[in-house]
Amino acid sequence: MSFRLRVWIVAAVALGVAIAVLRFERPPIDVTQTGYRGLGMEQPVNPRIRAALWEANQIPAPQPPVQPGSPPATSVYQNVKVLGDLDVATFTRLMVAITEWVAPKEEGCNYCHVGADLASDAVYTKVVSRRMIEMTRHINADWKNHVADTGVTCYTCHRGQPVPAEIWFADPGPKTARGAAGSRAGQNAPAMSIALASLPYDPFSAYLLKPGAIRVQGDTALPAGNPHDLPDTERVYAMMMHLSDGLGVNCTFCHNTRSFFSWDASTPQRTTAYHGIQMVRDLNANYLDPLRPAYPPERLGPLGDAPKANCATCHQGVSKPLFGANMLKDYPELAAAGKPLAAVAPPTPAPVVRGEVVIVYFPVASAALHNEAPAVIAVLVEKLKANPQAKATVSGYHSATGDAAANHELAKNRAMSVQAALVAAGIPADRVVLEKPVAEQANIVGESPEARRVEITVK
Ligand code: HEC
Ligand code: HEC
Ligand code: HEC
Ligand code: HEC
Repeated sequence: MSFRLRVWIVAAVALGVAIAVLRFERPPIDVTQTGYRGLGMEQPVNPRIRAALWEANQIPAPQPPVQPGSPPATSVYQNVKVLGDLDVATFTRLMVAITEWVAPKEEGCNYCHVGADLASDAVYTKVVSRRMIEMTRHINADWKNHVADTGVTCYTCHRGQPVPAEIWFADPGPKTARGAAGSRAGQNAPAMSIALASLPYDPFSAYLLKPGAIRVQGDTALPAGNPHDLPDTERVYAMMMHLSDGLGVNCTFCHNTRSFFSWDASTPQRTTAYHGIQMVRDLNANYLDPLRPAYPPERLGPLGDAPKANCATCHQGVSKPLFGANMLKDYPELAAAGKPLAAVAPPTPAPVVRGEVVIVYFPVASAALHNEAPAVIAVLVEKLKANPQAKATVSGYHSATGDAAANHELAKNRAMSVQAALVAAGIPADRVVLEKPVAEQANIVGESPEARRVEITVK
């Protein structure tokens, strides 16, 4: 074989591999303009991919309606904890629908029930499902600013599978060489969740579990005021790749790229997306992550966390899940307001001075100081300045729900927020002592706002 022929063959194979690996799309592409001409506000749509997506997003036919007037489910069954408001006929119809949405291929009813004893909670899938029913009701009742009246059912995420196609875990990344040479700084490992970009592969732990803005731009002239650094910026862009990929849109679906920052120049969809981000955090922090103890070990992530949701869990590559089909109207029992969740409802109390102790309260899963914290910090600063020998002892506490290790970290971060505020007010760091609280006192049972606090004593 001549040298030239060989070069041609290698080039042809390389091109073939490139076409197979990269996601090239064959023209023609339809382009829809979504803003004024010349702004580049447009959405390219590949009609062939769109047709396949349309096919994949057809919804199952609703179960036939039932006659009203059957007795309440609680009068017939023994272990009904969340669907107690339904009558027997509606209850059974919902069980049949749930089976079709979540476990049609497995053992059907037996995916969640063992044999004839339908009241037993022996299988974890039933325990998980009970919480899923509460979560679905909560989404439909309390997150209308995202899901509107379209709402969701189990099918929106599950699509006939026990495990939804799109879930995420905290990602430790691939194994690397030891030392600095092997440090990937959380990136350069192509992940499907961020459309294979060379960006941080786990933006979700940072942005879809905890509160906090997904921002890079400062709102004051540099260098003052902008706390965001380069890693933050990369994480923001990784997160944005997920938003685009998860919804099957490009950046201009939400932004005018002249200024990603400006809300005035953004589309209404960006506001819907903003509420979506807050909703996903709520679902992960208050429903999905706390289910960890219920799952068998093989369902947990490499770091032992529970499977969680992101935008793609519902959207699956479409800007309105299931192209906006409303399945909820046939299952009004899933639209009813769930029982109010303690974790969502009560506001964070203002800081108080109780005798010698100053107490600053914190929101759920947050170490951010209360708006009124500066007032009590000022009281502490005055005491410390008046008595140069005295030191401030700062102890962080957390509620009893959620992951123990994460809670300890949170309690410490809360204490450090207060310490930072004292130091910023001119108290030398060696006069602010962090002290771990006596263990058992740390937790008030459950998700009480009283438990999420930092106590400061000057002595
Ligand atoms: C995906 C999980 C799942 C599937 C599949 C499922 N169920 Fe259930 N079932 C539940 C949950 C969760 C409860 C408890 C509801 C509650 O506490 O309000 C329950 C409770 C019941 C009860 C009440 C039992 C009692 O005495 O407390 C009956 C009856 C029942 N299911 C029948 C069925 C039938 C029949 C099927 C198949 C058509 C089925 N279920 C499929 C999750 C499931
Ligand atoms: C917002 C998306 C979403 C909705 C809506 C939803 N689920 Fe889930 N569900 C999840 C995620 C995420 C998991 C975790 C997947 C895993 O187990 O690995 C899960 C897990 C489950 C499991 C455990 C599966 C297993 O084998 O580990 C069951 C059973 C289940 N869901 C039932 C339901 C039922 C019933 C409904 C409707 C009442 C529902 N889900 C609604 C997202 C959702
Ligand atoms: C589905 C809507 C949506 C899509 C698509 C989207 N974004 Fe965003 N973007 C948002 C929202 C919402 C925020 C604000 C998040 C917040 O404030 O917590 C944001 C914030 C940003 C920011 C931070 C701006 C600031 O204030 O500092 C940048 C930069 C950004 N997006 C870039 C992009 C890029 C690049 C793409 C395409 C790869 C993209 N976005 C796709 C909704 C979207
Ligand atoms: C629990 C399921 C669910 C999750 C998770 C979810 N969404 Fe949605 N989203 C919906 C539903 C349902 C609609 C359609 C509401 C309607 O009909 O107006 C929607 C609509 C939207 C729209 C408006 C689309 C349009 O064409 O106007 C945007 C933008 C959006 N979602 C962004 C996001 C982003 C970003 C995330 C992740 C942070 C996310 N969604 C997570 C269920 C979900």
